[in-house]
Order: sequence, then C-alpha cells, then structure tokens
Amino acid sequence: MAHKIVDKEKLSENVYRMEIEAKYVAEAREPGQFVLIAYDNDRSERIPLTIADVDLDKGTITVIFQAVGKSTLEFASLNIGDSFDAVAGPLGNPTDIEKYGRVVCVGGGIGNAPLYPIAKALKQAGNEVISILGARTKELLILEEQFKEISDKTIAVTDDGSYGRKALVTEPLEELCSGGDVDLCCAIGPAVMMKFCCQTTKKYNIPTIVSLNSIMVDGTGMCGGCRVEVGGETKFTCVDGPEFDGHKVDFDQLIKRLGSYKKYEQQAVAEHNC
Ligand code: FES
Repeated sequence: MAHKIVDKEKLSENVYRMEIEAKYVAEAREPGQFVLIAYDNDRSERIPLTIADVDLDKGTITVIFQAVGKSTLEFASLNIGDSFDAVAGPLGNPTDIEKYGRVVCVGGGIGNAPLYPIAKALKQAGNEVISILGARTKELLILEEQFKEISDKTIAVTDDGSYGRKALVTEPLEELCSGGDVDLCCAIGPAVMMKFCCQTTKKYNIPTIVSLNSIMVDGTGMCGGCRVEVGGETKFTCVDGPEFDGHKVDFDQLIKRLGSYKKYEQQAVAEHNC
C-alpha cells in the first residue's frame, strides 16, 4: 500500500516535516509512539521516526526528520505526491499521560519533534506545561509556534544568543526546579542534553522521562543497535521504550556508542553530495 506525501516543509538546515497518508496508523497512534518508514520495500532500509502529529480527518501522520544518513537524505529528496512503500506502526510504548500538575518539557534541536505530541497530550490531560526549547542557533529552533499554542509558557534558548535567551536549556530548567512546584520533567534531545537535564532534576528529586528514539536502527527488537543500560539492566529502546526513567539511564555509555555511528553518517552525506 502506497503512502502519499501530502505536505512537505523544510524546517531548518537538514530538518524536514512531512505529512503522509497513513489512516490506520493515525487512528491507532498514541503520544510517544513511532513508525517504521521505507521508501522502497525492495531496496530501502526501514527508518524509525516518531509520529509528531496526526490529522484524523485527513488520515495523515506527520513525521519530522533530520537528513543525516543515506535513507534520510533519500527521504529529503522526495516531494509532495511521491509515496513511501511502507509505513508500519504505531510501535513502541505510549507515554504515560496523566495529570501530574506542573510539567516542564525540555526539547533540544530535532528532539522538539518527538517532544511536541507528548507536551500536547500532557496539556490536554490538564497539566500546566512549561516548554523550554533549545537549539544552537535561531535557524535550528523548530516548532516554537506549535509549542506556544499548547504550552502555558514557552522559553526559547540558543547557544549563540541569536534568538531568545543565550543559555543552555539546563539554566531555565534549574531555575524552575529550584523554585519548587515542578512535578515532572520530560526531556528529549541530544544524549548529552538529556544527561545534564537529568543531573539537574535529580538534585531536586523531580521525576524525569527521557526518550531515546534517536538511537534506534531497525526498530523491531532484532538488531540490538538500540540497547541501553537502565538501572543496571540492558533494555532495547524500540521494544522496552522509547521512554525511560532518565535518572536510571547510563548516558555516558550511550554517548560513547552513539559516537560510533558518526563516521558512517558523514560518509553517507559525502556520497550523497558527490
Ligand atoms: Fe534494533 Fe531496537 S532498533 S533492536
């Protein structure tokens, strides 16, 4: 069954939003879940991508991805009217959406995409949602308008000060935590960002959820590429996650493993540009 691309937008350098026909996935999906997408069933690998949003009337899902490897570069070259051969899902465990009270959602870079449906669902469940969105520069800050619509307060920060406050996300996070009244933190972004968010919230005993969707490979529990140590146990992000108690994740080990894929991503970009 072909899944047509009905909308495409470039959100920032190498980051794209696509709305894709996938009626049954849209109907079944819950916040925090992902799909496996393949452009060509015979020759393409399947890429796990978080469902950033759905439109039940149109029967579509929205995915947001960064073109960093061979397949995501191929995705980026597709246009409205083109189709994917496969959109399988929804997969992964949904986020535990409850009324917690005051929730701080922290997103970094492309992590804003998987964070958005969770923040939206937390708001709909009656929580006060404060969103902290971080990026290296103004151009790389995505989905700010969408977060403003579903948050009680949105704080934008950039590393270089080109937009919002010149700070790392942990600065406003620390201020909110030290002020008390934060019941839950949800942090999604680069592993190093999640590590320092967790260190910050741990000081104040604030429960913290992280999503490790970015480390998945085949997304089916078979390749072992997404394994992570959580509380001294080996977990597979795709079947046991993608969300975990951030205070129990061994981020140092995770950061080391993620570095091993860099060489292949750079090689894919170089070959694509040739
Ligand atoms: Fe392959 Fe989880 S992504 S086992």
